[in-house]
Amino acid sequence: EAAQKNGYDTYMLKEINEQPHVINETLRGRLDGHTVTLPKLDGIDFSTFNKVYFVACGTAYHACLCGANILEKATKLPVMTQVASEFRYNDPIIDEHTLCIFVSQSGETADTLAALRLANKKGCTTIAIANVLGSTISRDAKYTLYTAAGPEIAVASTKAYTTQLVLLTLLAFYIAERLNKPIDTKALDQLKDLPMYVENIIKDEDIFASYAELLRNQHDCYFIGRSLDYASVLEGALKLKEVSYVHADAYIAGELKHGPIALIEPGTVVIAVATQPNVAAKTISNIQETIARGADVILFTTDDQDAEGIKNKYNLPHVDPLLTSVLVAIPLQLIAYHTAKIKGADVDKPRNLAKSVTVE
Ligand code: G6P
Repeated sequence: EAAQKNGYDTYMLKEINEQPHVINETLRGRLDGHTVTLPKLDGIDFSTFNKVYFVACGTAYHACLCGANILEKATKLPVMTQVASEFRYNDPIIDEHTLCIFVSQSGETADTLAALRLANKKGCTTIAIANVLGSTISRDAKYTLYTAAGPEIAVASTKAYTTQLVLLTLLAFYIAERLNKPIDTKALDQLKDLPMYVENIIKDEDIFASYAELLRNQHDCYFIGRSLDYASVLEGALKLKEVSYVHADAYIAGELKHGPIALIEPGTVVIAVATQPNVAAKTISNIQETIARGADVILFTTDDQDAEGIKNKYNLPHVDPLLTSVLVAIPLQLIAYHTAKIKGADVDKPRNLAKSVTVE
Protein backbone atom coordinates (compact mmCIF):
# COMPACT_ATOMS: atom_id res chain seq x y z
CA GLU A 1 0.00 0.00 0.00
CA ALA A 2 2.86 2.39 0.83
CA ALA A 3 4.13 1.97 -2.73
CA GLN A 4 0.69 2.80 -4.14
CA LYS A 5 0.67 5.99 -2.10
CA ASN A 6 3.80 7.00 -3.92
CA GLY A 7 5.53 8.46 -0.84
CA TYR A 8 2.48 10.34 0.43
CA ASP A 9 1.04 9.37 3.79
CA THR A 10 -2.53 9.23 2.49
CA TYR A 11 -4.29 8.66 -0.81
CA MET A 12 -6.08 11.97 -0.38
CA LEU A 13 -2.82 13.93 -0.31
CA LYS A 14 -1.47 11.92 -3.23
CA GLU A 15 -4.61 12.59 -5.25
CA ILE A 16 -4.56 16.31 -4.41
CA ASN A 17 -1.01 16.43 -5.76
CA GLU A 18 -1.96 14.56 -8.93
CA GLN A 19 -4.31 17.33 -10.01
CA PRO A 20 -1.98 19.27 -12.32
CA HIS A 21 -1.31 16.05 -14.23
CA VAL A 22 -4.88 14.74 -14.43
CA ILE A 23 -6.30 18.15 -15.37
CA ASN A 24 -3.79 18.19 -18.20
CA GLU A 25 -4.87 14.68 -19.22
CA THR A 26 -8.53 15.73 -19.18
CA LEU A 27 -7.74 18.67 -21.48
CA ARG A 28 -5.52 16.61 -23.76
CA GLY A 29 -6.81 16.39 -27.33
CA ARG A 30 -9.90 18.44 -26.52
CA LEU A 31 -8.61 21.90 -27.37
CA ASP A 32 -7.53 22.71 -30.88
CA GLY A 33 -6.44 26.34 -30.80
CA HIS A 34 -9.59 28.12 -29.71
CA THR A 35 -11.91 25.29 -30.70
CA VAL A 36 -13.14 22.66 -28.25
CA THR A 37 -13.20 19.23 -29.86
CA LEU A 38 -15.59 16.66 -28.43
CA PRO A 39 -16.18 14.51 -31.55
CA LYS A 40 -18.50 12.09 -29.74
CA LEU A 41 -21.04 14.91 -29.44
CA ASP A 42 -20.81 16.20 -32.99
CA GLY A 43 -24.05 14.43 -33.95
CA ILE A 44 -26.12 16.43 -31.47
CA ASP A 45 -28.15 19.40 -32.70
CA PHE A 46 -27.89 21.72 -29.69
CA SER A 47 -30.30 24.23 -31.20
CA THR A 48 -33.18 21.85 -30.36
CA PHE A 49 -32.78 22.31 -26.59
CA ASN A 50 -34.69 24.89 -24.61
CA LYS A 51 -33.12 23.99 -21.26
CA VAL A 52 -30.35 22.00 -19.67
CA TYR A 53 -30.54 19.89 -16.51
CA PHE A 54 -27.49 18.92 -14.46
CA VAL A 55 -27.97 15.98 -12.08
CA ALA A 56 -25.61 14.22 -9.66
CA CYS A 57 -24.91 13.38 -6.00
CA GLY A 58 -22.33 14.57 -3.47
CA THR A 59 -19.21 16.21 -4.79
CA ALA A 60 -20.31 15.57 -8.37
CA TYR A 61 -23.43 17.64 -7.60
CA HIS A 62 -21.19 20.54 -6.61
CA ALA A 63 -19.30 20.14 -9.87
CA CYS A 64 -22.70 20.35 -11.57
CA LEU A 65 -23.54 23.60 -9.78
CA CYS A 66 -20.31 25.09 -11.14
CA GLY A 67 -20.82 23.56 -14.58
CA ALA A 68 -24.37 24.91 -14.73
CA ASN A 69 -23.23 28.42 -13.82
CA ILE A 70 -20.54 28.30 -16.52
CA LEU A 71 -22.81 26.77 -19.17
CA GLU A 72 -25.58 29.27 -18.57
CA LYS A 73 -23.17 32.20 -18.89
CA ALA A 74 -21.49 30.76 -21.99
CA THR A 75 -24.59 29.57 -23.87
CA LYS A 76 -27.42 31.73 -22.41
CA LEU A 77 -29.52 28.54 -22.20
CA PRO A 78 -31.67 28.24 -19.06
CA VAL A 79 -30.06 25.74 -16.72
CA MET A 80 -31.32 23.76 -13.71
CA THR A 81 -29.29 21.66 -11.29
CA GLN A 82 -30.69 19.00 -9.02
CA VAL A 83 -29.49 16.29 -6.69
CA ALA A 84 -30.30 12.92 -8.30
CA SER A 85 -32.36 11.65 -5.35
CA GLU A 86 -34.62 14.71 -5.71
CA PHE A 87 -34.77 14.79 -9.50
CA ARG A 88 -36.00 11.22 -9.78
CA TYR A 89 -38.91 11.74 -7.37
CA ASN A 90 -39.83 15.30 -8.36
CA ASP A 91 -41.55 14.56 -11.65
CA PRO A 92 -39.16 16.90 -13.51
CA ILE A 93 -40.52 18.84 -16.47
CA ILE A 94 -38.31 17.37 -19.17
CA ASP A 95 -38.80 16.15 -22.72
CA GLU A 96 -36.99 15.77 -26.02
CA HIS A 97 -36.06 19.47 -25.89
CA THR A 98 -34.14 18.99 -22.65
CA LEU A 99 -30.45 18.23 -22.52
CA CYS A 100 -29.67 16.27 -19.33
CA ILE A 101 -26.09 16.02 -18.07
CA PHE A 102 -25.30 13.42 -15.39
CA VAL A 103 -22.00 13.56 -13.52
CA SER A 104 -20.59 10.60 -11.58
CA GLN A 105 -17.02 9.68 -10.73
CA SER A 106 -17.82 6.00 -10.23
CA GLY A 107 -20.62 5.82 -12.77
CA GLU A 108 -22.41 3.48 -10.34
CA THR A 109 -24.30 5.75 -7.93
CA ALA A 110 -27.81 4.29 -7.65
CA ASP A 111 -29.75 7.56 -7.50
CA THR A 112 -27.82 9.07 -10.41
CA LEU A 113 -28.44 5.97 -12.54
CA ALA A 114 -32.16 6.00 -11.72
CA ALA A 115 -32.36 9.70 -12.63
CA LEU A 116 -30.58 9.02 -15.92
CA ARG A 117 -33.00 6.21 -16.78
CA LEU A 118 -35.94 8.51 -16.09
CA ALA A 119 -34.48 11.16 -18.42
CA ASN A 120 -33.93 8.55 -21.13
CA LYS A 121 -37.54 7.38 -20.74
CA LYS A 122 -38.78 10.94 -21.14
CA GLY A 123 -36.92 11.31 -24.43
CA CYS A 124 -34.18 13.68 -23.26
CA THR A 125 -30.73 13.72 -24.79
CA THR A 126 -28.49 12.38 -22.01
CA ILE A 127 -24.77 12.98 -21.59
CA ALA A 128 -22.79 11.29 -18.81
CA ILE A 129 -19.58 12.67 -17.39
CA ALA A 130 -17.83 9.69 -15.78
CA ASN A 131 -14.39 8.73 -14.59
CA VAL A 132 -14.55 4.93 -14.61
CA LEU A 133 -14.36 3.44 -18.10
CA GLY A 134 -17.20 1.08 -18.94
CA SER A 135 -19.18 1.99 -15.81
CA THR A 136 -22.95 1.49 -15.83
CA ILE A 137 -23.63 5.17 -16.48
CA SER A 138 -21.59 5.04 -19.68
CA ARG A 139 -23.71 2.17 -20.95
CA ASP A 140 -27.01 3.84 -20.09
CA ALA A 141 -26.36 7.40 -21.25
CA LYS A 142 -26.75 8.25 -24.92
CA TYR A 143 -23.33 9.95 -24.85
CA THR A 144 -20.43 9.68 -22.41
CA LEU A 145 -17.41 11.88 -21.86
CA TYR A 146 -14.64 10.74 -19.53
CA THR A 147 -12.59 12.68 -17.05
CA ALA A 148 -9.00 11.44 -16.91
CA ALA A 149 -8.58 11.51 -13.14
CA GLY A 150 -7.38 7.89 -12.97
CA PRO A 151 -8.38 5.69 -10.02
CA GLU A 152 -9.50 7.76 -7.04
CA ILE A 153 -9.05 5.75 -3.84
CA ALA A 154 -9.66 8.28 -1.04
CA VAL A 155 -13.35 8.42 -0.19
CA ALA A 156 -13.35 12.22 -0.29
CA SER A 157 -13.22 13.25 -3.91
CA THR A 158 -10.51 15.71 -4.98
CA LYS A 159 -9.01 15.05 -8.40
CA ALA A 160 -12.27 13.63 -9.78
CA TYR A 161 -13.97 16.90 -8.80
CA THR A 162 -11.48 19.25 -10.45
CA THR A 163 -11.36 17.15 -13.63
CA GLN A 164 -15.17 17.22 -13.71
CA LEU A 165 -14.99 21.02 -13.48
CA VAL A 166 -12.54 21.13 -16.37
CA LEU A 167 -14.58 18.80 -18.56
CA LEU A 168 -17.82 20.66 -17.78
CA THR A 169 -16.10 23.92 -18.73
CA LEU A 170 -14.95 22.40 -22.01
CA LEU A 171 -18.49 21.15 -22.61
CA ALA A 172 -19.94 24.61 -21.92
CA PHE A 173 -17.57 26.24 -24.40
CA TYR A 174 -18.19 23.45 -26.92
CA ILE A 175 -21.97 23.96 -26.78
CA ALA A 176 -21.52 27.75 -26.94
CA GLU A 177 -19.44 27.33 -30.11
CA ARG A 178 -22.04 25.03 -31.63
CA LEU A 179 -24.71 27.65 -30.88
CA ASN A 180 -22.53 30.35 -32.46
CA LYS A 181 -22.22 32.24 -29.19
CA PRO A 182 -19.19 34.48 -28.77
CA ILE A 183 -16.31 32.60 -27.15
CA ASP A 184 -13.85 34.20 -24.80
CA THR A 185 -10.58 33.10 -26.40
CA LYS A 186 -8.59 34.35 -23.43
CA ALA A 187 -10.53 31.99 -21.17
CA LEU A 188 -9.72 29.10 -23.51
CA ASP A 189 -6.02 29.99 -23.36
CA GLN A 190 -6.16 30.10 -19.57
CA LEU A 191 -7.89 26.72 -19.50
CA LYS A 192 -4.70 25.28 -21.01
CA ASP A 193 -2.70 26.96 -18.24
CA LEU A 194 -4.81 25.57 -15.38
CA PRO A 195 -2.37 22.71 -14.61
CA MET A 196 0.41 25.28 -14.10
CA TYR A 197 -1.76 27.47 -11.87
CA VAL A 198 -2.87 24.46 -9.82
CA GLU A 199 0.71 23.30 -9.41
CA ASN A 200 1.74 26.72 -8.09
CA ILE A 201 -1.14 26.81 -5.61
CA ILE A 202 -0.25 23.35 -4.28
CA LYS A 203 3.23 24.73 -3.51
CA ASP A 204 1.56 26.99 -0.92
CA GLU A 205 0.42 23.95 1.10
CA ASP A 206 2.12 25.30 4.26
CA ILE A 207 -0.06 28.40 4.13
CA PHE A 208 -3.23 26.27 3.95
CA ALA A 209 -1.90 24.04 6.76
CA SER A 210 -1.52 27.18 8.89
CA TYR A 211 -5.15 28.11 8.13
CA ALA A 212 -6.18 24.63 9.31
CA GLU A 213 -4.60 25.47 12.69
CA LEU A 214 -7.42 27.98 13.22
CA LEU A 215 -9.83 25.02 13.17
CA ARG A 216 -7.89 22.95 15.73
CA ASN A 217 -10.39 23.59 18.54
CA GLN A 218 -13.47 24.41 16.49
CA HIS A 219 -16.68 22.38 16.23
CA ASP A 220 -18.14 24.58 13.50
CA CYS A 221 -16.98 26.51 10.48
CA TYR A 222 -18.87 28.75 8.06
CA PHE A 223 -18.14 29.13 4.38
CA ILE A 224 -19.51 32.01 2.33
CA GLY A 225 -19.49 32.99 -1.33
CA ARG A 226 -21.69 34.32 -4.09
CA SER A 227 -22.50 33.11 -7.60
CA LEU A 228 -19.90 30.58 -8.79
CA ASP A 229 -18.06 31.00 -5.49
CA TYR A 230 -21.12 29.68 -3.67
CA ALA A 231 -20.77 26.37 -5.51
CA SER A 232 -17.08 26.36 -4.58
CA VAL A 233 -17.77 26.89 -0.88
CA LEU A 234 -20.44 24.18 -0.83
CA GLU A 235 -17.73 21.76 -1.91
CA GLY A 236 -15.22 23.26 0.55
CA ALA A 237 -17.67 22.75 3.40
CA LEU A 238 -18.46 19.19 2.32
CA LYS A 239 -14.75 18.34 2.15
CA LEU A 240 -14.15 19.69 5.65
CA LYS A 241 -17.14 17.80 7.09
CA GLU A 242 -16.25 14.53 5.36
CA VAL A 243 -12.65 14.23 6.49
CA SER A 244 -12.28 16.29 9.69
CA TYR A 245 -15.81 15.96 11.20
CA VAL A 246 -15.84 19.70 11.83
CA HIS A 247 -19.42 20.77 11.23
CA ALA A 248 -19.32 23.09 8.24
CA ASP A 249 -22.07 25.04 6.53
CA ALA A 250 -21.88 26.99 3.31
CA TYR A 251 -24.03 30.06 2.84
CA ILE A 252 -24.66 32.49 0.05
CA ALA A 253 -22.85 35.56 1.42
CA GLY A 254 -25.86 37.80 0.78
CA GLU A 255 -27.98 35.55 3.03
CA LEU A 256 -25.70 35.99 6.02
CA LYS A 257 -27.89 38.77 7.36
CA HIS A 258 -30.98 36.57 7.13
CA GLY A 259 -29.87 34.13 9.81
CA PRO A 260 -26.33 32.76 9.87
CA ILE A 261 -24.83 35.99 11.21
CA ALA A 262 -26.53 35.09 14.51
CA LEU A 263 -24.08 32.20 14.84
CA ILE A 264 -20.92 34.31 14.52
CA GLU A 265 -19.13 34.90 17.81
CA PRO A 266 -15.55 35.70 18.81
CA GLY A 267 -13.27 33.01 17.38
CA THR A 268 -15.75 31.55 14.87
CA VAL A 269 -13.90 30.61 11.68
CA VAL A 270 -15.38 31.98 8.45
CA ILE A 271 -13.88 30.91 5.15
CA ALA A 272 -14.84 33.23 2.31
CA VAL A 273 -14.31 33.00 -1.42
CA ALA A 274 -14.55 36.18 -3.48
CA THR A 275 -13.32 35.59 -7.03
CA GLN A 276 -16.23 36.88 -9.10
CA PRO A 277 -15.51 40.51 -10.03
CA ASN A 278 -19.16 41.62 -10.09
CA VAL A 279 -19.84 40.49 -6.50
CA ALA A 280 -16.42 40.12 -4.81
CA ALA A 281 -16.62 43.52 -3.06
CA LYS A 282 -20.09 42.60 -1.76
CA THR A 283 -18.77 39.35 -0.26
CA ILE A 284 -15.84 41.21 1.30
CA SER A 285 -18.25 43.66 2.90
CA ASN A 286 -20.16 40.66 4.34
CA ILE A 287 -16.85 39.41 5.71
CA GLN A 288 -16.28 42.71 7.47
CA GLU A 289 -19.62 42.19 9.23
CA THR A 290 -18.38 38.84 10.59
CA ILE A 291 -15.05 40.38 11.64
CA ALA A 292 -16.96 43.06 13.55
CA ARG A 293 -18.49 40.17 15.53
CA GLY A 294 -15.11 38.61 16.26
CA ALA A 295 -14.82 36.00 13.47
CA ASP A 296 -11.45 34.65 12.34
CA VAL A 297 -11.63 35.00 8.58
CA ILE A 298 -9.76 33.21 5.82
CA LEU A 299 -10.31 34.87 2.45
CA PHE A 300 -9.57 33.60 -1.06
CA THR A 301 -9.68 36.39 -3.59
CA THR A 302 -7.48 38.26 -6.06
CA ASP A 303 -4.94 40.99 -5.30
CA ASP A 304 -7.05 43.75 -6.84
CA GLN A 305 -9.73 43.37 -4.15
CA ASP A 306 -9.45 45.75 -1.25
CA ALA A 307 -9.60 43.55 1.84
CA GLU A 308 -8.31 45.80 4.56
CA GLY A 309 -7.74 44.23 7.93
CA ILE A 310 -8.13 40.63 6.72
CA LYS A 311 -5.00 38.91 7.97
CA ASN A 312 -5.49 35.51 6.35
CA LYS A 313 -5.93 36.59 2.76
CA TYR A 314 -4.75 34.38 -0.08
CA ASN A 315 -4.56 35.88 -3.54
CA LEU A 316 -5.47 33.51 -6.33
CA PRO A 317 -4.00 34.11 -9.79
CA HIS A 318 -5.99 36.28 -12.17
CA VAL A 319 -7.95 34.06 -14.52
CA ASP A 320 -11.29 34.36 -16.26
CA PRO A 321 -14.05 34.33 -13.59
CA LEU A 322 -15.50 31.15 -15.14
CA LEU A 323 -12.32 29.22 -14.29
CA THR A 324 -11.81 30.11 -10.64
CA SER A 325 -13.64 27.13 -9.11
CA VAL A 326 -10.81 24.82 -10.18
CA LEU A 327 -8.21 27.02 -8.49
CA VAL A 328 -10.02 27.61 -5.22
CA ALA A 329 -10.76 23.90 -4.86
CA ILE A 330 -7.09 23.26 -4.07
CA PRO A 331 -6.74 25.36 -0.88
CA LEU A 332 -10.14 24.20 0.35
CA GLN A 333 -9.07 20.56 -0.11
CA LEU A 334 -5.80 21.19 1.70
CA ILE A 335 -7.50 23.00 4.59
CA ALA A 336 -9.84 19.99 5.00
CA TYR A 337 -6.92 17.59 4.76
CA HIS A 338 -4.76 19.37 7.34
CA THR A 339 -7.67 19.89 9.72
CA ALA A 340 -8.35 16.14 9.57
CA LYS A 341 -4.66 15.43 10.26
CA ILE A 342 -4.62 17.82 13.24
CA LYS A 343 -7.73 16.10 14.61
CA GLY A 344 -6.24 12.65 14.07
CA ALA A 345 -9.00 11.51 11.70
CA ASP A 346 -8.64 8.66 9.20
CA VAL A 347 -8.39 10.90 6.15
CA ASP A 348 -8.84 8.25 3.47
CA LYS A 349 -11.68 6.35 5.10
CA PRO A 350 -14.02 8.70 6.95
CA ARG A 351 -16.52 6.95 9.20
CA ASN A 352 -19.90 5.99 7.71
CA LEU A 353 -18.96 7.01 4.16
CA ALA A 354 -18.50 4.86 1.08
CA LYS A 355 -16.62 5.68 -2.10
CA SER A 356 -19.43 4.50 -4.27
CA VAL A 357 -23.06 4.40 -3.10
CA THR A 358 -24.77 1.68 -5.11
CA VAL A 359 -27.77 1.41 -2.79
CA GLU A 360 -30.64 3.85 -2.54
C1 G6P B 1 -20.27 9.14 -2.35
C2 G6P B 1 -18.80 9.57 -2.26
C3 G6P B 1 -18.65 11.01 -2.73
C4 G6P B 1 -19.21 11.17 -4.12
C5 G6P B 1 -20.68 10.68 -4.20
C6 G6P B 1 -21.14 10.60 -5.63
O1 G6P B 1 -21.01 9.85 -1.41
O2 G6P B 1 -18.34 9.44 -0.92
O3 G6P B 1 -17.26 11.37 -2.74
O4 G6P B 1 -19.15 12.52 -4.51
O5 G6P B 1 -20.79 9.37 -3.65
O6 G6P B 1 -20.36 9.62 -6.28
P1 G6P B 1 -20.19 9.51 -7.83
O7 G6P B 1 -19.34 8.28 -8.03
O8 G6P B 1 -21.56 9.37 -8.41
O9 G6P B 1 -19.51 10.75 -8.30
